[in-house]
This record gives sequence, structure tokens and C-alpha cells, in this order.
Amino acid sequence: MTEVALERVDELRVRLGALPRVKLAHLPTPLTACPRLYEATGARVSIKRDDCTGLAFGGNKVRQLEFVLGDAIASGADCLIQGSASQSNHSRQLAAAGARLGLDVFLLPKQDERSTPVQGNQLVSHLLGATILPIGASESSTERKRQLADSLRAHGRTPYVVGMGEDRALALAALAYVEALLEIVEASNDTPPDVIVTTSQGSTQAGLQLGCHLLNLPTKVIGINPMPPDHEAYISPAGIADLTRSAGALLGLPCTLTETDIVNSTEYVGQGYGIPTTAGLAAIKLLASTEGILLDPVYSGKGFAGLLDHHRTHATSPDARLVFVHTGGLPAIFSYASDLINDEQG
Ligand SMILES: Cc1ncc(COP(=O)(O)O)c(C=O)c1O
Repeated sequence: MTEVALERVDELRVRLGALPRVKLAHLPTPLTACPRLYEATGARVSIKRDDCTGLAFGGNKVRQLEFVLGDAIASGADCLIQGSASQSNHSRQLAAAGARLGLDVFLLPKQDERSTPVQGNQLVSHLLGATILPIGASESSTERKRQLADSLRAHGRTPYVVGMGEDRALALAALAYVEALLEIVEASNDTPPDVIVTTSQGSTQAGLQLGCHLLNLPTKVIGINPMPPDHEAYISPAGIADLTRSAGALLGLPCTLTETDIVNSTEYVGQGYGIPTTAGLAAIKLLASTEGILLDPVYSGKGFAGLLDHHRTHATSPDARLVFVHTGGLPAIFSYASDLINDEQG
């Protein structure tokens, strides 16, 4: 890296440091080399271990919630609302953050095929003391979150809503991944990777992409989306580009990325959000058996399958230095035991 770029790293750190923030995560997370995976596949992969952010099983949201909840507290919030799939990692991490910060957390999980038995993320959210108010599988989470916020306001509370449909929270979440990008660059001895792959439906990719843009890096960012375009929480490449610009504005820095700069693939979704794929399950087993690192079937397993496919098709050079940003999701494996074991038997 040039000296100018290193100055830019410092400048970004100062700008990030000026924003309201709470301390929740173990940072920086490690960037781990994968020598046995290299022997098995020829792919030079390092893994950014954001599955190890530390709070109640960790994951990307713990890092993001440092900025999101810094904003919530600065705006006077006294309770938090999130609604999503029953196995939502975001909900679990929000429940943990609320417990840590002394803020009531209301969760609106969908009554979907993973609701019972209470397992994985949902079990952990129960233990963390969140108020859990299930909604129908076909109801709109965005709508129900807003209705609950209105009713809490009518009772004198000050709710802060996160997740899908909440543009400010999504842009603040992206800022956390500008910082993750700085950590990756620093841990790579100032030689940025050729390609960064991660599972993302929005904020994580937007932040990594904005960081590369602001540092003027040649690094290519590839998002593997766990959701098909007709899912309520799907964000299109144009929407991800919007997030990069809103997050840039929060830092006081213009960002000129547009839809055509964003590579976000729905190719690895398979039959749908939350439904395991053969390639995802194979990726989980490969990384577990070569490096002792776990992935989950909903997010990171599909993302890693995308990375391996990218390597196989040599979309860049076969020697490309790849970084996989591991966004976590691990408690979900317990509610997918039968898929994981059937796959092993088959
Ligand atoms: C494990 C995991 N990976 C990735 C994501 C997507 O994160 P983002 O919306 O910031 O792209 C989520 C969202 O809940 C997640 O739980």
C-alpha cells in the first residue's frame, strides 16, 4: 500500500471514531490462513473470523450493532424491535446486545418451518430475556415492526427499529464493515486481498465495498445473497449501492458507487432462503474437516460454496488471494441437525 492510502486508513478511523457507538464486540477479529484447505482445493483463502465477535455466539450483527445501537441510545431509545425468520441471527444478537445495554428487546419471529421445537437462535433469544411475539409466516415483518413501534410509543416508550426496511440502521450497520475492511487491510500487512467474498443481503457488502472505494483499492468484493429476489428482505445491487452512498454520507465522504459496481449473486440460494443446498452442506463439511472452522447452512455455508465455485471457475487468477468474511450464524446448525446428518449418511 502507498503512504497516501495509509493516511486514508487513519482518516477513516478518525471519522468512524467520531460516531456514537457502544462496545459489544471482540475486535479486531482474527484473519486466519487456511493451509489445509489450500492443500485440498488450491484456493488461497484467509477467513475474517466475524463468527468470533464474541457476544452470545457472535456474528456480523454484533459488530454492526455497535454503531446501530450507539445511534439508538443517542436518539433516546429505551427499547429495540426486530422481526425476521424464526432462526434469525440478527434477532439473537440484538437480544444479547439489549441485555448487555439494559434495553428491552421485542422480537417478532415468523412462525415458519423452523419455529418448533425451540432450538438454535430462538432458544438463545429466549435465554437472553427478549420478549418474543411470534407473527404469521406470511405477514410482513416490516409492517408488524412498525405497528408494534406505534403501539409502544402510544404507551410512552421510545422504540428503535432495526433490520429490513430500516434504511438508517442498515447504513449504520454498513459502517461497521468499513472498519472490518480496515482490519483486513492491516492484518494483510497493507497488501489488500484480490477478492473478498461474503454472504450478504446488504449492509455487510455495502460496508466492505465502501471501504475499498474510499481506499481506492483494486480488491473485488463479491456478495453471495442467501435470499431470492422475491423475498421481503432482499436488497438489489442498486439498493446495496444506495447503502454505500448513505453510509458514505454518514462519514461525511462522498461515494459514487452505482448498481454496476456491485456484484451480488443469488446463484447459490438454491430452493429458497433457509433451505440448505448440496453445495452449501459440502462446503460446511470441507471447511470443518480441513480447518476445524464451522459454517451454517443458511448463510455462511452458501457463501463459502460461492467462494469455492468462484475459485473453481477461476473468475480471477487461480493464485488470487481470497478473503472470506465469515458472518457467523452458527447457532442455526442445531435446528438443521437432520439436514446435516442426512447429508452425511447420503
Ligand atoms: C450469518 C449472517 N450472515 C450474513 C447476514 C447478512 O448480513 P447483511 O444484511 O449485513 O448483509 C446475516 C443477516 O442476518 C446473517 O445472519
